[in-house]
Amino acid sequence: MTAKNSKNTSIKVLCVCLGNICRSPAAQGVLESDARRRALMMQVDSAGTAAYHLGKSPDPRSIAALSKHQIDISGQQARQVQLTDFDEYDWILAMDKSNLNNLMKICPSNLQSKLVLFSQFSGGDEDVKDPYYGADEGFDKMFEHLKSLSEFFLDHIESQRL
Ligand code: 4NP
Repeated sequence: MTAKNSKNTSIKVLCVCLGNICRSPAAQGVLESDARRRALMMQVDSAGTAAYHLGKSPDPRSIAALSKHQIDISGQQARQVQLTDFDEYDWILAMDKSNLNNLMKICPSNLQSKLVLFSQFSGGDEDVKDPYYGADEGFDKMFEHLKSLSEFFLDHIESQRL
């Protein structure tokens, strides 16, 4: 678990799920909000391993779940992970183990250490469940899970700076 991290540089984080319309755009919004509150310099983006929804806005249910917490993700547009991301980002946070496995297949071997399961920072290995085919409540649960994982991740980033 290593990443470039000095007090004067912005940390670059890429959140990754399958479609880039439900979980990773929400993770981006939560991390941006939490990093801002902690005055951490962090640039966050998100992408999907699949190309199903290129250019689309986040799922309206993700937008609604986050707007309840004053986080606006409506301006994001779905994109697919590209090879240059592995150079560009310091941390690549996979929302579930399937996403992580897909990333491991395409990431150059010397950059694999940038790939992590988002829940790793909580001391667990649970997936951020895909709410796409479920009921609206799944999106509120997704938010709560992401919020918790975001705080664990940012605690880790801050602990590296001490
Ligand atoms: P996400 O959810 O990976 O959290 O964006 C999904 C969105 C769309 C699909 C699957 C998962 N899909 O099959 O279209």
